[in-house]
Amino acid sequence: MSIVNYEELSFKIGSVFTPGSPVNEKDLFAGRIDQIRSVHDAVSQQGYHAVLYGERGVGKTSLANIIKMTLPGDWIVPRVNCDGTDTFSTLWRKALRDISFTEERPGIGFNSEVHRSVSVLADTLPPEVTPDVVRAVLQNLSRHAKMLIVFDEFDRLNDPQISVLMADTLKSLSDFSVPATILLIGVADSVDDLVAGHQSVERALIQIPMPRMSTKEINQILKTGFQRIGMNLDDNALDELTTLSQGLPYITHLLSLHSGKAALERKSIQVSSTDVERGIAEALSRWQQTTTKAYYDAVQSSQPGNIYKQVLLACALADTDDMGFFSAAAVRMPLRALTGKDYDIPNFAQHLKNFSEESRGGIISRTGEKRRIRYRFTSPLHRPFIIMKGFQDDLLTRQQMKQMSI
Ligand SMILES: Nc1ncnc2c1ncn2[C@@H]1O[C@H](COP(=O)(O)OP(=O)(O)OP(=O)(O)O)[C@@H](O)[C@H]1O
Ligand SMILES: [Mg+2]
Repeated sequence: MSIVNYEELSFKIGSVFTPGSPVNEKDLFAGRIDQIRSVHDAVSQQGYHAVLYGERGVGKTSLANIIKMTLPGDWIVPRVNCDGTDTFSTLWRKALRDISFTEERPGIGFNSEVHRSVSVLADTLPPEVTPDVVRAVLQNLSRHAKMLIVFDEFDRLNDPQISVLMADTLKSLSDFSVPATILLIGVADSVDDLVAGHQSVERALIQIPMPRMSTKEINQILKTGFQRIGMNLDDNALDELTTLSQGLPYITHLLSLHSGKAALERKSIQVSSTDVERGIAEALSRWQQTTTKAYYDAVQSSQPGNIYKQVLLACALADTDDMGFFSAAAVRMPLRALTGKDYDIPNFAQHLKNFSEESRGGIISRTGEKRRIRYRFTSPLHRPFIIMKGFQDDLLTRQQMKQMSI
């Protein structure tokens, strides 16, 4: 008989499921084989660089964290977190601040000792760093080490000039065949949104879209995570957590943490549907205030029998394209499934319009001309929130969720 220390497990689960921070351990990192391969392609082909882009919370930083462990041999992989105050010079100072080198100078006189001095590379940069300075430094450095330099949160930079300078840098590195690779990462729909003025380097830039994770990958996160601490999930809980995640590993971590804790509280190491239910309630109560407020602003109504909640939930369940856009027609099917009534587009067109207006918090944005109007949630976190809320409020049943296999 083995004794389970539930308190200890409850502590451990917080180190496996970490909604607040990226994965930095290879064993806990699931899937993403195509994206890793694409980064390897960029790294192994001289003159190529890469740009990785995708929604918030989809796993971009996690991939950057583990990429070093997937590369053969020894690599230097500095990761820079860009922010709004950065300039091209500060970016490169950050990139090179952890790299130091040793210089040896022979002493004066016969038989005297060799003098060694250690310098930080960033300190040797001129006050104004230019693409050509970067090229020269990396060229020098690449004789001693293999380098992949990651600029995360690239979309946060305010000065558009930085993108132009970065594009010039990539071009210069390619033209001079410098064997160092740059990986740009950001929240964006497309590379154009991320790297303005990159046309000149298009051929040298491998574009890596980071889509939501597949069901298989989400399953893997769940199974590996719980297994790691000696817990498991029953089939229903596995299905529900996978479905509710909607391909966003951030949600998987958030729900797993709270559902797992709920199981441990009732002294079980197996997570079941009831634990998921409690996990959802806990996750919803801790959700960012902005998302919660947007939801209540969107569905408030004093009219009895209004269907704002149902229409919004149907929007969250609607099929989207790769960029997260959906049409009014795509809302019809889930709305019928939820209400059991034959609503047609004119019955809820006004609701959709209202959701995009400020009076209802602008939870959805509208684009396109008449008859070709497309909608999209203004934050990727709205969708999972609305679905969980619907599930909690019994607007969406387990059965319906399965049928729609969202
Ligand atoms: N491949 C993966 N396997 C397991 N968990 C993952 C994976 N990718 C991401 N996660 C988890 O998902 C959450 C979000 O990941 P991460 O911070 O890397 O996303 P991101 O795209 O960088 O988000 P942001 O746009 O907010 O910076 C984290 O809790 C992380 O642990
Ligand atoms: Mg990130």
